Amino acid sequence: MALYNDTVMEHFMNPHNVGEIENPDGKGVYGSPVCGDMMLVTINVDDNDVITDAKFKTYGCGSAIASSSMATDMIKGMTIDEALEVSNKKIVEELGGLPAIKIHCSVLAEHAIKNAIYDYAEKNGKTYKGLEGYVPETDPDAHEHGCQVEE
Ligand code: FES
Repeated sequence: MALYNDTVMEHFMNPHNVGEIENPDGKGVYGSPVCGDMMLVTINVDDNDVITDAKFKTYGCGSAIASSSMATDMIKGMTIDEALEVSNKKIVEELGGLPAIKIHCSVLAEHAIKNAIYDYAEKNGKTYKGLEGYVPETDPDAHEHGCQVEE
């Protein structure tokens, strides 16, 4: 079996939502404690808390590109509460699976989105259940116990 399925390859070869929104409502950066790669996500949110646009830029690998392409597609049109439910597991499910060694790349997308929402919430004085107790970590070196890549 090929390492990457057709959906992953399609999102990697023709990623959606690449770029950076100018003057976004929320902006999140996340660095992976596993590989040190970075992800930037910008979002726009309307008055009803619906995410109207989402874009990403990454220094990550092909799996990070595919994950972020899929994840930004998924959250567009969702409310903030719904978007906070989008775990890396759901992103991987939508992609039809990733090799085990590449699961951490999808975590990059989940956290960068969460950080962008956190930024939006902070700027607008809003609170969300999905952000309770959440402390964004943007510096890969700030992690005390990043999991190791398994061979
Ligand atoms: Fe770093 Fe995939 S994002 S290896």
